[in-house]
Amino acid sequence: MEEQVIELVLGDITKQAVDAIVNAANSGLMGGGGVDGAIHRAAGPELLEECRRIAEEKRGIGRSPCPAGEAVITGAGRLPCKYVIHTVGPVWRGGGQGEPELLASCYRNSLFLAEERGLKSVAFPNIATGVYGYPKEAAAGTASAAVKETLSRTPGIRKIVFVCFDDENYAIYRRVLEFLGTF
Ligand code: APR
Repeated sequence: MEEQVIELVLGDITKQAVDAIVNAANSGLMGGGGVDGAIHRAAGPELLEECRRIAEEKRGIGRSPCPAGEAVITGAGRLPCKYVIHTVGPVWRGGGQGEPELLASCYRNSLFLAEERGLKSVAFPNIATGVYGYPKEAAAGTASAAVKETLSRTPGIRKIVFVCFDDENYAIYRRVLEFLGTF
């Protein structure tokens, strides 16, 4: 079977020409700051329109648009990728409220959605490490391990790109990925 590769880049996820980029969204799917804001700005208003429709459909059946740890997929508007997978990270509350499992679920569920759609390449930001305050080192370890473990169950996915926006995250991921032997 063709090997699956994990790449690490320092840059802007809105510029990644992969099949899907992952957005660190909020549970209401209504856009925000950070990477959520950057993705909506680059995609254009149709992305928010699609998110609004999904949110209304979910609320119509009594569900939250996107609870922490879950993921939904939309088109990508004017972005160079084909899809945006919106996932909601856990707000860091000290680590004893299930944050690691919820963060791992963000990566796992995003990859399962990509596999279901037959996508081959997915780019992730450093989910929850900004506004949601998740410690970067712990997040990188959880994210890398979750992706490595899930890839064995999503054979259609050929390439994962971890996109770091700052030098600190980049250095952390470099170390963690080398330790996990994925470099
Ligand atoms: N490309 C890649 N990464 C980016 C970009 C970008 N253009 N812009 C920001 N980032 C990085 C941040 O530096 C951080 O490392 O994305 C990571 C995630 O940070 P946030 O965007 O703050 O996301 P998060 O911590 O998950 O908080 C989500 O913030 O924007 C709101 O609506 C969002 O309520 C939600 C919350």
